[in-house]
Amino acid sequence: MTMIENGVVPIAIDDGTAFYGLPSAAELTKLANELWVSGEDPQPVHPPTPEVTGATYPTIPETPVAPQVPEAPAYVPTSMPAGVAVPTDQAADEKNVIRVAVRDGAGEPETDSLYALSDQVHGEHTHRNDGITVGSKTLQQIRDDFPILKEQVGGFPLVWLDNGATTQKPQAVIDRLTQFYTHENSNVHRGAHELAARSTDAYEAARQTAADFIGAPDKDDIVFVRGTTEAINLVANAYVKPLLTPGDEIILTILEHHANIVPWQLIAAETGAVLRVVPCDDSGQLILPAYEKLFTPRTKFVSATQVSNVLGTVTPVEELVAIAHRHGVPILIDGAQSVAHMPVNVSALDADFFVFSGHKIFAPTGICAVYGKKGLLDAAKPYHGGGNMIKDVTFERTIYNPAPNKFEAGTGSIADAVGLGEALKYLSAIGMPAVHQWEQELVQYGMKELATVPGLHLIGTAPGKASALSFKLDGYEDGAVGEYLNRYGIAVRTGHHCAQPVLRRFGLESVVRPTLALYNSPDDIDALVRALRGLA
Ligand SMILES: Cc1ncc(COP(=O)(O)O)c(C=O)c1O
Repeated sequence: MTMIENGVVPIAIDDGTAFYGLPSAAELTKLANELWVSGEDPQPVHPPTPEVTGATYPTIPETPVAPQVPEAPAYVPTSMPAGVAVPTDQAADEKNVIRVAVRDGAGEPETDSLYALSDQVHGEHTHRNDGITVGSKTLQQIRDDFPILKEQVGGFPLVWLDNGATTQKPQAVIDRLTQFYTHENSNVHRGAHELAARSTDAYEAARQTAADFIGAPDKDDIVFVRGTTEAINLVANAYVKPLLTPGDEIILTILEHHANIVPWQLIAAETGAVLRVVPCDDSGQLILPAYEKLFTPRTKFVSATQVSNVLGTVTPVEELVAIAHRHGVPILIDGAQSVAHMPVNVSALDADFFVFSGHKIFAPTGICAVYGKKGLLDAAKPYHGGGNMIKDVTFERTIYNPAPNKFEAGTGSIADAVGLGEALKYLSAIGMPAVHQWEQELVQYGMKELATVPGLHLIGTAPGKASALSFKLDGYEDGAVGEYLNRYGIAVRTGHHCAQPVLRRFGLESVVRPTLALYNSPDDIDALVRALRGLA
């Protein structure tokens, strides 16, 4: 009879010994063979496991290619001669106005040019952020709002130039999440208790804020989903797919992120529809006459980005919408890379759908706003089925809630939606026109400075571009450049950036991609350029 000692079943083997605890592989094999073998000429079911003694393993080869990156130049941390940069208008409290002004050591205004200021102090850090006003705040105040910007990476101040992938979060958003989880957390819409009311109020207020931020006529024109990827899949499946018959056409542009290509391929494969692609010129701007020529009586839908995530091209969305509408075709605008960098008004634009992820606009991950014109949301089929999206269910049929609930089956990212609302309020208080103006100046400065690095080639040069400063550097793998910059705390992204068609249009498979946002400073660009000069 088996004895149980200390909760461990002893394993008896044929020599009468008993083992406690975990048997070795050899013991298990022996035991299995004894249990399963029968007859006079027992054959082991499993080959015996050799004892492992001094086993040899192949050695991992040395990294085949030694990094081609030479030792980096010394990075000079912030130090600045007093009085170099001060605002000319200390009371610059008007929104939507940028004031950049410089005083030299003697205290006299020298120029109002950011570029001159930068040239003057090139290679050194300054307090010039205090002299730059973006809407209602100085750049330094904005930077102070983002606690992660004080982070040290490898002993250097973090220079966050990966905003195209995701943005950092202001303290206001972090605090709002804490407040939500401390005082309001509950599921929404379904409870009779106080916290359900608080969370529902907060969630619906965020919907209103999102609608206001992009000029949507009604808060119920905003559906919350997890991200732009899910948003485009929703529109493709819920609205467009039911319209399609074999041979119908969907127009996309060469600039699209894979999130605005693959969902359309999937529904095209299911329905027999075909994709048509608008080309771009060598600067990275869309060719409008070519776009217009793509329309046929079979065109059922257009989906286009407002800003290319690789080239930074700002597409002529007004014309894209107007031309589509002239042909009676609805259009979706992918605002993932635009909405944090410029004012957007979907009503003025007359977009049929407009989508943007929260995490690229200083809000948490896991939340996205989908704007759809009311009639189109009404016409769209539900995308996911489940709770929250229904008015009444029997086993025979379901009556759906109207939009937006019709598309919000299950429990959504409630706190993240509330965080999105807070991020949008934060930006509105600064003023999006000012944010746009400031970033335009910063992009120009970045382009000008990067162009001075020997062997550096900017990819994407369309006038008025936003955020992305993609480049190739002669003689270096993109990944090696990214790793080299990381040694100095400078975060950029390298690779294909989920936009292989547009990169291949330029004969490339990858680029180094610094991407700017509201809180980046000329010092960030100088740090990048100084570091890159160390490679040139
Ligand atoms: C232009 C564009 N569209 C869509 C997406 C997908 O966004 P998400 O990953 O938030 O779903 C991205 C992400 O980088 C993007 O840049």
